[in-house]
Amino acid sequence: TTLDLDPEAYEAGEHASYMRKEMLEQPEAARRVVSGRLDKRFATAHLGGLNLDARETREIQRVKVLGCGSAYYVGQMGALLIEELARIPADAEAASEFRYRDPVIEPDTLYVAVSQSGETIDTLLAVQEVRRKGGRCIGLVNVVGSAIARECDGGLYLHAGPEVAVASTKALTTMFLGFALLALQLGRVRDLSIADGRRLIAGLEALPEQVEAVLAQEDALAETARELAKAESLFFVGRVRGFPVAREGAQKFKEISYRHAEAYQTSELKHGPLALISPAVPTVAIVPDDELTDRNVGALHEIAARGGPLVVVTHEGLDLGGLPATRIDVPRNEKELDPILLTIPLQVLAYHAALHLGHDIDKPRNLAKSVTVE
Ligand code: AGP
Repeated sequence: TTLDLDPEAYEAGEHASYMRKEMLEQPEAARRVVSGRLDKRFATAHLGGLNLDARETREIQRVKVLGCGSAYYVGQMGALLIEELARIPADAEAASEFRYRDPVIEPDTLYVAVSQSGETIDTLLAVQEVRRKGGRCIGLVNVVGSAIARECDGGLYLHAGPEVAVASTKALTTMFLGFALLALQLGRVRDLSIADGRRLIAGLEALPEQVEAVLAQEDALAETARELAKAESLFFVGRVRGFPVAREGAQKFKEISYRHAEAYQTSELKHGPLALISPAVPTVAIVPDDELTDRNVGALHEIAARGGPLVVVTHEGLDLGGLPATRIDVPRNEKELDPILLTIPLQVLAYHAALHLGHDIDKPRNLAKSVTVE
């Protein structure tokens, strides 16, 4: 196997890259972000830095997540988590667009800025827009003392450790878990039951080892990646919890393999993009074991019928009804936490496609680690 779970060992190796090192650091980062923040007695999370008391938490009518690029996609995953667990209407918007539509800022909306670097100018300006109009904004930020962290009314640090590769991996995983903690805390002050709180805590505790198990499939994923790298153009598809996963998978693939990768809702394929499906255009499909499995599999049969090669990221043991596909299995956890485990193999696919194509993994062309000018 090419996998050694000691990330330091790879700094000088043949496959040396910060991206790979940082991917392998994810189990540890996942442990760190939840560490000391879970309260088993009350089945909740304690995020002291939010500066939100119970009364204020109950008054929140809406949550709006703001971030750019991959942080925005994880923000979409996070908004869903908050809506599912805390039952507060929530959505995510690209911070780079938000400020330019002169947004109405509502006093009972909780704005959440999410950023690895804490220096992304579009996200920073979005936070300033919220606060200038009297809104409350908290931050999920990795870099301590960064501009966004300082600008927010409160928040939580992600403790991912330094991230060097332009293609973000471990920071995104800690962002997702940060959202899970936030959703748990908001939920438990509102109407999430103690049983559901306990279920989530058990899921969060099981997660780091499961991330490790996905990373251990690196050899098989590398083989699939080499196949995908042959295509000029690919689709990444998913629904609801799986859709931001598809967006993030396509983003990572584009960034470092320079292949055209387009994310779509599986449900929308028949409304247009199905016309592009052919043996030359593979689809990477996110199919968790959930209430949408049958519909997902049905839509994928439409792709198979047109000769489109399929790679399906799914749960161990799930019956895909004879779908002709290369299968990537991830372990089962609580369904709300599925997105992050489904995302990990997509990082490995992008990494090995780029490696196979001989690209500079850590410094892809035209991109900077953080975009600090407008
Ligand atoms: C991730 O792989 C990208 N390089 C990029 O989309 C990044 O997530 C985005 O620029 C936001 O950066 P930030 O988290 O530092 O704000």
